[in-house]
Amino acid sequence: MAAYEYETHEYDVVVVGAGGAGLRATLGMAEQGLRTACVTKVFPTRSHTVAAQGGIAASLGNMGPDNWQWHMYDTVKGSDWLGDTDAMEYLAREAPKAVYELEHYGVPFSRTEEGKIYQRPFGGHTTEFGEGPPVQRTCAAADRTGHAILHTLYGQSLKQKAEFYIEYFAIDLIMSDDGACTGVVCWKLDDGTMHVFNAKMVVLATGGYGRAYFSATSAHTCTGDGGGMVARAGLPLQDMEFVQFHPTGIYGSGCLITEGARGEGGYLTNSEGERFMERYAPQYKDLAPRDYVSRSMTMEIREGRGVGEHGDHIHLNLSHLPPEALQLRLPGISESARIFAGVDVTKEPIPVLPTVHYNMGGIPTNYWGEVVNPTKDDPNAIVPGLMAVGEAGCASVHGANRLGSNSLIDLVVFGRAAAIRAGKVVDPDTAVPATNLAQVDKAFARFDGLRHADGAIPTAELRLEMQKTMQEDAAVFRTSKTLAEGVEKMTAIAGKMGDLKVTDRTLVWNSDLMETLELTNLMPNALATIHGAEARKESRGAHAHEDFTSRDDENWRVHSVARVEDTEVALSYRPVVEDPLTDEKSGGISLKKIAPKERTF
Ligand code: FUM
Repeated sequence: MAAYEYETHEYDVVVVGAGGAGLRATLGMAEQGLRTACVTKVFPTRSHTVAAQGGIAASLGNMGPDNWQWHMYDTVKGSDWLGDTDAMEYLAREAPKAVYELEHYGVPFSRTEEGKIYQRPFGGHTTEFGEGPPVQRTCAAADRTGHAILHTLYGQSLKQKAEFYIEYFAIDLIMSDDGACTGVVCWKLDDGTMHVFNAKMVVLATGGYGRAYFSATSAHTCTGDGGGMVARAGLPLQDMEFVQFHPTGIYGSGCLITEGARGEGGYLTNSEGERFMERYAPQYKDLAPRDYVSRSMTMEIREGRGVGEHGDHIHLNLSHLPPEALQLRLPGISESARIFAGVDVTKEPIPVLPTVHYNMGGIPTNYWGEVVNPTKDDPNAIVPGLMAVGEAGCASVHGANRLGSNSLIDLVVFGRAAAIRAGKVVDPDTAVPATNLAQVDKAFARFDGLRHADGAIPTAELRLEMQKTMQEDAAVFRTSKTLAEGVEKMTAIAGKMGDLKVTDRTLVWNSDLMETLELTNLMPNALATIHGAEARKESRGAHAHEDFTSRDDENWRVHSVARVEDTEVALSYRPVVEDPLTDEKSGGISLKKIAPKERTF
């Protein structure tokens, strides 16, 4: 192995990733005077949060009556009763505070006539505990909300003197011999130097792993890097079988058309021009949750009512909306539709198809973002020194299905929560843990092995095999047969990782090597997904199993816990948190109100 020299850095906290969750955590840590570094493989404002369009959910009540209890109820029901109730309460309760903080930091939200933050309807967000009409709860900056949030949080983090290490790729975590995380080993992409960050707390904010699939709204950088590092450290992933398909990815490119388009009055039609959602979800129609709408669209296509030459997609209609409204509220998607579908939204429908969008599963945490490594004796055992937030984590507030606009609020509420917690558990006056040299050597040995990989399969080829298999076998609808085949195929594909071929051996801007490292992260995420899905014999949220069509609360209201080692996945299960944080007497929600029931819209 080549010897790698490295520079050592010491911080109270190192945040890996600079999307919404990473930046909110970074800002919160730095505001409290913790010496904070943010390490990111892309420039912060290019993180995938920049692509978030429609908005951020919070019960501000600017457009009509709303309260956090209704938001919490919708989130519980949206999760198909797999979310952790304490975390879901925390999310809904803290959401308004977190959004007003964003406003005060300078996020340029769209405004109502009175100057309040503009809010639009989004799927699954309702009034009166799911009995009343849809609510306007999603706070928006036109259809570029993520962009607005990201730029604001980056500016504020700089103001607080957080230090940024930009275009540094995190290779592996450094764990102590007694199981705490003490840092991370990184490769600086633009000059090829190596860096070891020692820290009292490492926060993984690395985003999702949408690119395990062939067609995804996720950026090409969404390669599950946190999940990969965690799996290699012998830590688990949770609820990975729940993969969200967004109903309206542009047919062909997969580019996102925000749910805000339906929130502003857009609707879906089939080849007969029928607004078919009226049949599937009579109460909320096009504003039913995403799993519901994606399944309905797939049924229409399967039953021969898809549109286009091959009858394989659906139309999203916006042309009935006033052009000024489209220009004001949906300028970004009007442009995307023109560029990626050649469509003028004022005149023609957009061709759309359910497209992989979000991973409900991730690194298990409590609602403070602390990573959990369940043991037989303690299902909630914490890994000292390690947190995970945002799409990389699984708190779990989205359970089996996330509501649209609950992602951006998850990022800021739990990024903020992680900072609050770190303020309590990280002592700025103690010494930073020393480098565990054996772990650093191990990380460099893995890196070097990949750098000199001289097998028969180019990285891009194996990645494509994985993506096509996941797309086919872990789709909107799943069967015992497709899942069993998927497990078999993915095991064989993962088995070929030892036969990869990397052609570029240099260290500066070596995208071949970086994509290979990313593939080593995607693979354990994909394996956990297909194994978790094959094992779960029920239908719940985004996991629609055609051989087990009902939800089975007696046997399956449990989180799946996957430990991945090479091609092997060991599954176990841990209980869902059923109790809220507060009871009805203290203004909270009664358990009866949120007890599992049939999920109709
Ligand atoms: O449709 C959208 O604008 C996406 C929002 C989300 O995933 O929360």
